[in-house]
Amino acid sequence: MSNFYKSNYLIGKKFRVSSTTVQNWIDKSLKGEINLELGEEEGRWKVINNLHNQRLLFELSRKAEKFDRMKEKRVEYTVDNKLYEILSPKQVKLLARSLQDDLEIPLKYVYIGEEGVKRWYTFHEASTKSTYSTYLEGHDFFLEVHLDYILGKFNDRERGIPKINLIDLGCGTADYTITCAKKMDKLGLLNSVIALDISQVMLDRLSNRFKQKDLKHIPFYSKQCDMDEGLPFDFLFDLSSSEDGRIPALYLNFGGQITNNEVYEQVNMLYNIATVMNKEDRLLVVNSYHEKEMEITYPSAEMDEFFDLHRWILDLLGIKQEDYTIHFDYSEQEFKRTAGLKLVKDITLNFDKINTLVKLKAGQELIVWKHRRENHQTVNQNATATGMRVDLSSTDTDDSLICYMLKKR
Ligand SMILES: C[S@@+](CC[C@H](N)C(=O)[O-])C[C@H]1O[C@@H](n2cnc3c(N)ncnc32)[C@H](O)[C@@H]1O
Repeated sequence: MSNFYKSNYLIGKKFRVSSTTVQNWIDKSLKGEINLELGEEEGRWKVINNLHNQRLLFELSRKAEKFDRMKEKRVEYTVDNKLYEILSPKQVKLLARSLQDDLEIPLKYVYIGEEGVKRWYTFHEASTKSTYSTYLEGHDFFLEVHLDYILGKFNDRERGIPKINLIDLGCGTADYTITCAKKMDKLGLLNSVIALDISQVMLDRLSNRFKQKDLKHIPFYSKQCDMDEGLPFDFLFDLSSSEDGRIPALYLNFGGQITNNEVYEQVNMLYNIATVMNKEDRLLVVNSYHEKEMEITYPSAEMDEFFDLHRWILDLLGIKQEDYTIHFDYSEQEFKRTAGLKLVKDITLNFDKINTLVKLKAGQELIVWKHRRENHQTVNQNATATGMRVDLSSTDTDDSLICYMLKKR
């Protein structure tokens, strides 16, 4: 006796189609148009539960899903006016282009405006309390282990180690800069702290933090800039000039601005940094370490605050939670982790104020976050490509982080 599926309803439930669709497949099989294997029971044709039918039902349901999607109408969302308050017209244009051409929301725009900064602080705070904190502690670890060696590199035969400008690239909350600044100040080696960030609101919040910290007596300067476009050469030049000669700089880049990019963009940003550096300056970068066969997890991305941070731009674009499913990927070849949104419907985004329509299709995946791991070899490759060389390259105790120092060749 054949083993039948009990009802069309149960088949429909399992393969996510309606009972009517299942009945249509049975009718088509009877006409010989498709070949589901059927049997008669109590005067009704029923679908036999076997491997052949399971495969075919799966295939048919996939086709039905596609067909349903095609029938579904394209929805159009007009982006929220607030987007134009937060981003400059050029940034809105670049965002629209990035969505259309690269299916990506550039991560750097997430931190701009009050909302982005509030959410970054919330995420950062939650991170320090989660398992992800081991990553954050890694920054302090490197400063603890390597700072003396790093400062020793500034030793000048005539002046000894001079006072140094500490320049934070993509400062965010500047927690590690503050740690580093306090240590340098204790050694009498801190001239000033300079913070650069794409987000003016982030910088405003930071200047308040510096006024309240034990570093009140240290001059603090900040400047808004997009490191993809270049660093503020004149501003940094003025702050490095003194009567006793040039003030050397220790540049810090913690937290992924270089590494949240495609390789050509990483090289571009490093090149922009190298352009403002002098021979005696150093650039210190901390990133996730990539080793073969390493287990890749997403502890930070599993936190609600992670998506809250990334979601608010989606809200301004009008993209709703029911419009996508979330995917995480790791590319072993590129050492690249990505978080993407797979769209479940065709969406048109109307950037009315810049007269631009962005057409997105169901099935396309929008990248909202990406991060590239590094190892000693990739660090060397990037340094070489940008006219720098590696002066220090070290991993932490459990090989989860890599810290490297670059100087101009
Ligand atoms: C992930 S947070 C890291 C913050 C901090 N360095 C840390 O380690 O906690 C990235 C910071 O870099 C800034 N940023 C991102 N891309 C940038 C760019 N292209 N130019 C300037 N700042 C950028 C963001 O606004 C944000 O404050």
